Amino acid sequence: MTELSQEIHKRLTFAIISHPDAGKTTITEKLLLFGGAIHIAGAVKSGKSARAAVSDFMKMEQERGISISTSVMGFEYRGRKINLLDTPGHADFSEDTYRGLSAVDSALMVVDSVKGVEERTRQLCVVCRMRATPIATFVNKLDREGKDPMELLDEIERELAVEVRPVTWPIGQGKLFKGVYNLVEKSLYLFAAGQDHLPTDAIPVNGIDDPLLDEKVGSSLAQKLREDVEMVSGVYPAFDKDEYMAGRATPVFFGSALNNFGVRELLDNMVDIAPYPTPKQAEERMVLPEEAKFTGFVFKIHANMNPKHRDRIAFLRIVSGKFERNTLYYHVRAGKTFRAANPTAFMSQDREIIDEAWPGDIIGLHDTGTFKIGDTLTEGEGVNFKGIPSFAPQIFRSIMNADPLKEKQYHKGLDQLAEEGVVQIFSKIHQPNARVLGVVGQLQLEVLQNRLETEYNASCKYEPIDVSIAHWVTSDDEKALKNFVEANIRRILVDIRGNYVLVSDSEWAFNRIHQNNPELRFYTTSEMV
Ligand code: G4P
Repeated sequence: MTELSQEIHKRLTFAIISHPDAGKTTITEKLLLFGGAIHIAGAVKSGKSARAAVSDFMKMEQERGISISTSVMGFEYRGRKINLLDTPGHADFSEDTYRGLSAVDSALMVVDSVKGVEERTRQLCVVCRMRATPIATFVNKLDREGKDPMELLDEIERELAVEVRPVTWPIGQGKLFKGVYNLVEKSLYLFAAGQDHLPTDAIPVNGIDDPLLDEKVGSSLAQKLREDVEMVSGVYPAFDKDEYMAGRATPVFFGSALNNFGVRELLDNMVDIAPYPTPKQAEERMVLPEEAKFTGFVFKIHANMNPKHRDRIAFLRIVSGKFERNTLYYHVRAGKTFRAANPTAFMSQDREIIDEAWPGDIIGLHDTGTFKIGDTLTEGEGVNFKGIPSFAPQIFRSIMNADPLKEKQYHKGLDQLAEEGVVQIFSKIHQPNARVLGVVGQLQLEVLQNRLETEYNASCKYEPIDVSIAHWVTSDDEKALKNFVEANIRRILVDIRGNYVLVSDSEWAFNRIHQNNPELRFYTTSEMV
């Protein structure tokens, strides 16, 4: 095996998808504890932004900025180098999360056993499905009285359009929760409440009829387990790795992250089955991790989070080959060379300078305004990776400079923050100087205002506009597109890449335009797929 292939086979890069409060922070912390990356519980800051006011949100983001490494947490476990990508908790920043998912090879979905499938999880699952990302599922909080496990699995299948393959099965729930039975290993894991103890080891049992089960969990729960297992085995086919890899089926684990129960088995299982760095589709061709030449793409930019350093970090996912420090690479969009003098890796909770990195790794590049989200670095080839789109905003505002003396700062701030993906900016064809903002959530508007003030010493004001729906529009018939744009000039905006976007004030108005223009294609993402 070559060094490249060895390094590829070590990597496991994934993100956790969940609705706020399902237990993402708690699970992250347990994973890092097992990986030896942290030593005390409570070291991972909760992303409790969903309930926070904007000031709390900004404060939290600033804290994150100072330890920016929490965006990617690297640790070693059972010979694999694991890169766990953190994604923003707040739904208003879901675009950032969607793009983050382009940089991972699999996902871990956390479902709260009491609340079942929730909105955020549903949205993120759609993104995973678009990319056929393999998903493992952890049903959390079994120490509470939750939904019936069978009902929960039905709900997951029905709402998320993915088949479930239970690997463990809970014995009791809430106050009566006794542990889980591993359907594959045919072993028992006994639950003990409490946060500080180590996970319990498996107790091997001689199949589901072993009287040891009755002894350990009591005969009525043992009997119920036997019935459950019989039903589960009848309803669900056994786990099949190919189905998982294709994103069609998800292995399901039950546990309680807070009580440190079930998370280690989950991690062990992911280490065994989760994909190595996968090939990534570029506009030009498929790029394989094993290719000797380095390629990578920027999926996130984080600017000015540390006010003392005014630094901006571009997060680069390595797709193929070996990345080396101080090497001249090709910046495809800019058509220029780029050399990383101090690339950083995110190990444990620190940021450290590295000399090399491999497919699956995520590194931080010090950025002086060179990068935009979606940019590609290569050894010379002109490839552009797909899967890092902008999504149609749902809230629109006209934005104006509020302080004529700070015109320069205003434009610089607006451009940089749009490049970072805080908001989307559009221009109007008939009023070239006017700018329209598009966001997914209200909080983004407040964050933009706040960051313009604190980081660029500039201020802005918003005015509502009568627009609620946007679609990127294109056509194979260039003349038809041109005529359409001219005829609808007041309803057309232009994004930062020069693509046309049709804005409408209602679904009804959009549908009418759609029906009347069969030669045009309308899309809700900038990648127009
Ligand atoms: P998030 O990052 O997905 O938003 O969730 P987080 O881990 O912060 O967990 C949300 C809440 O659920 C926390 O309680 C956490 O302690 C609790 N929790 C996580 N796992 C379990 C579990 O297995 N069982 C039970 N019963 N609770 C669990 P909180 O009161 O909101 O916060 P805190 O004060 O405990 O930090």
